[in-house]
Parts: sequence; C-alpha cells; structure tokens
Amino acid sequence: MPLCDPGGRAPRLGVGMIYTISADRFARSPGALDYWAITPDMFWVDRGVDTESRFGDLPHWIEALEWAAPRLPIVAHHIGLSIGSSCPLDQGYVSQLLSWQGRWNYPWISDHLSFAQIEHGAHKGSAGIALPLPYDRSVLDMICARVSNLLELSGGPLLLENPARYIAYPDEELTETEFINALCARTGCGLLLDLHNLHCNSVNHMFDALQWLEAIDLDHVVEVHVAGGAMIGDIYADSHSGGCPNEVWDLLEHVVPRAPHIRGITFEFHDSYFDRMGGDACLEREITRARKVWQRCN
Ligand SMILES: [Fe+2]
Repeated sequence: MPLCDPGGRAPRLGVGMIYTISADRFARSPGALDYWAITPDMFWVDRGVDTESRFGDLPHWIEALEWAAPRLPIVAHHIGLSIGSSCPLDQGYVSQLLSWQGRWNYPWISDHLSFAQIEHGAHKGSAGIALPLPYDRSVLDMICARVSNLLELSGGPLLLENPARYIAYPDEELTETEFINALCARTGCGLLLDLHNLHCNSVNHMFDALQWLEAIDLDHVVEVHVAGGAMIGDIYADSHSGGCPNEVWDLLEHVVPRAPHIRGITFEFHDSYFDRMGGDACLEREITRARKVWQRCN
C-alpha cells in the first residue's frame, strides 16, 4: 500500500552535500551542512558476487562516517542496486545495503532509475555505467515488483532518481513523468528529483523543463539534487564539474515551495573536479545559495 508521505518519519533536514575526500574539511566545518549524502559503494570494497567475505570496510572512509554519525544525519545514495535490470536483485548487495542502513541509521536510501547489471544465459556482467530504461508498461510492472520487494525488506523510505538520458528509445509507451508518477504511486517509493539531470535532458532532447515539472507529481519528492555540468561536443553532460547553472537554480526556486514532502536539497559534485571548480569557496557559495531557497520555504 503506497505511503501518503514517501519520506515516512524522516525529518526535514535542510541542505547537504555529497561527501567526498577532497571536501572533507568543508564537510566537517561547524554549521556548513545540515546532512551528509554518501555513496556507500565508495566506502567499501566489493570483492565480487561469489567471493567469501564479499564486502570490506575501507578504514579511511569509515573514519569519516564515524566522525559524522554522532553529529549529522547521513543519507545513502547508492549506485549499485541496478533496480532496472531484469535479472534477480543482487541479494548480497541488498544484504550489505540493509546492514549499513542499520549501522548508520540513514533517514532514507536512494539509488537511480536505471540499470547496469546484465544477465544473458549463464553470463553475468555489468555495463559499468548507469543505462536508461525504456518507459514501457512491462518495464514499469517489473520495477514496481522489485521496488516493493526492497521497500518490504528495508522498511523505507526508498527514493529513486530521475536519470540523465543521453539516448531516447523509440516508441516508448509512457512519458518519463507518467512512468515515474505511476512507479511512486503504486509502490510508495519517493522521488529523488535531480534538477540537473532534468536540465541536461531538456537541453539534449530540446524540451521545456518547466513543462516536465508541471507533469510530475511533486508530492513524491523527498530529496532534490542540484549540480553543474558542461558541454562535451554537442552533448550537455551531467558531469558534476562545477557550480549549478542559473537554469537549475530557477528550477529549484520553482520546486521547493511546491513539494510538500521535501526533506533536503543536496549539492553534488565529482571529486576529480574539486580544485578546478574552486574548492571550498565554490562549495560554500553553492550551499549558501541552496540554503537561501530552503529557508524561504521552511
Ligand atoms: Fe543526482
């Protein structure tokens, strides 16, 4: 039965940032952030599906979590669920996710509305990159079953993120907003609304991002992502390589007052761009700007 509020009992957190090693000093400065968003997959080593003691802690990263856990909420943003694959869920990965949910007491867990694991006969593999789903009814049914299963195991809240899609499938049965609205309504999962992914898609596929937002049910939004990108040839890439473009700030101003169950705004960037994007000064500027939007509505 879908939840009325996909965020469940999670508190309204405010403004956070994806944790990276380069940003460690900023992330630990008093009052800088209301929460950390972590990609748990970066904090452990995965020795492979059929190995004994498959997952192992990475000590340097665990130290950061041990510092943060008594001070700030930590939300989990996974990259390894492959929720859109047609093969069975990776039970070892799910067990690890659940064990870390208990260990770090996340207010919510998220992953991406995409797939990477591919199974063909006896062959199992990973595409190594998040691939977009075709928005068809049979795919929706399949994902709803997988999401419901995960929600039952984890107890929620569970969010899925709208992806950057660099290709368009022909003849899809549903629009992206119809697909996401139905997925959230049928399962009770929440939407992690990535406004930079939306901006990226609107540039590359030439549609109006505000019209997309008019069609999405903002009741399902629990977390919002903002980030920066760059043109690579003719493609605008979700590269997380700098501050947010003005178009993304405009979308954030539109969404926050209209999303009644929103719990947080997360600034994302890729660690490898840290120096080039301006280091701590850039982080401070982006977080301050996000906080102003948050405070106007909270
Ligand atoms: Fe994102």
